[in-house]
Amino acid sequence: MTAVRMDGKALAEKLRAGIADEMKAFGESVCLATVLVGDDPASHIYVSRKHDACSEAGIESRDHRFGESTSEGEVLELLEELNADDVVDGILVQLPLPAHMDESKVTLAVDPTKDVDGFHPLNAGRLYQGDPLLVPATPLGVMALLAEYEIDLKGMEAVVIGRSEIVGKPVAMMLLAEHATVTICHSRTVDLEQHTRRADILVAAVGRPGLVTRDMVKPGAVVIDVAVNRTEQGLVGDVEKDVAEVAGFLTPVPGSIGPMTIAMLLRNTLTAAQHRREGVAVSGT
Ligand code: GUN
Repeated sequence: MTAVRMDGKALAEKLRAGIADEMKAFGESVCLATVLVGDDPASHIYVSRKHDACSEAGIESRDHRFGESTSEGEVLELLEELNADDVVDGILVQLPLPAHMDESKVTLAVDPTKDVDGFHPLNAGRLYQGDPLLVPATPLGVMALLAEYEIDLKGMEAVVIGRSEIVGKPVAMMLLAEHATVTICHSRTVDLEQHTRRADILVAAVGRPGLVTRDMVKPGAVVIDVAVNRTEQGLVGDVEKDVAEVAGFLTPVPGSIGPMTIAMLLRNTLTAAQHRREGVAVSGT
């Protein structure tokens, strides 16, 4: 038996078409500003895809790109301008930033009402407390895909490999909110297989090709591969291809979680615009 291929690309297309319709009904212009620092070719491709997706959905976008040697002060200054600019509904700072910049400081400088990545501590804290407002796009995409395939998470053993602020921690919180029993594994976890073999849902978000092998997966499990690793064999995830022979459901890499992330970014941008028009308070200050 082979696993059901979870088609995030098809779902993302459906969601994007829905967002384009909602944009027409919204009747006002909505604008996303992206900030990219440095020369990382993958980041340049990702940001360009985000702009293409905005344009297709009828969302305006502004593209701010800086050279590798730009100072943190210059980026903070731009963020201040974007925060104050009433035309801008969403702000996204593409990560990773160059090593000389403090990512937490830059993340903190984004107005939480415009924080379409959900990385600001206020948005992260709201997710942690079970009252989310703007939530990171990749975990949101994972959850939407699980819902599309009608996977009921209640009481399930969920194991997340990776504890990043972008994927591991937020996806763990979201699985918990759906009443899964959640374990977070990471680079210091002893006997990783002992945890993964218990998992009804396994989320791999590390960035290490070949990390999850078929002997680590419980037969019939739902396996979500969030990673995109560039190798000589092309783009691969963290999960070995033959896991499809034991898993019940599996996301292909590339072409499942990546497209879902972009669809969810558009969703967050529209949500941020709606909140701003409605005067929804993020911070309560
Ligand atoms: N780098 C890798 N994933 C992401 C993401 O979802 N948002 C941003 N801003 N940067 C990223």
